[in-house]
Amino acid sequence: MAHLLLGCAFSKVVLHAVLSRVGALCCMPRPSESLVVWLSNGARRLQRNVKAAQTLVNLSLWRIWKRRNACVFEGASLVVARLVEDIFVEADLWRAAGARQLDHPPPPSFSAP
Ligand SMILES: *[C@@H]1O[C@H](CO)[C@@H](O)[C@H](O)[C@H]1NC(C)=O
Repeated sequence: MAHLLLGCAFSKVVLHAVLSRVGALCCMPRPSESLVVWLSNGARRLQRNVKAAQTLVNLSLWRIWKRRNACVFEGASLVVARLVEDIFVEADLWRAAGARQLDHPPPPSFSAP
């Protein structure tokens, strides 16, 4: 699990792209952190909007997991840019469905390029 979500290059690139887009690179996992430690500490490195960052991290991990399953079981391919776009589109849907913590930056605007 830790390798799939944190260790492998694809996951790292996706997380970097998502967190840099919202100005939250300080939340990136550190080499010394386990998955469990990172999940509880990563977003707290922000001074504010910790919940927004945590929600976005959780959403990103969920989408990475789902994309990997699609690769294994449906022959889908791993395309970083497409997955990052999907994550921000789904974040907009979560926000529209009432995820109020996503109203506050980060992310400033999910739809921004
Ligand atoms: C993110 O996931 C962690 C680990 O499952 C959980 O403890 C936390 O409550 C989640 N945070 C948000 C904002 O959904």
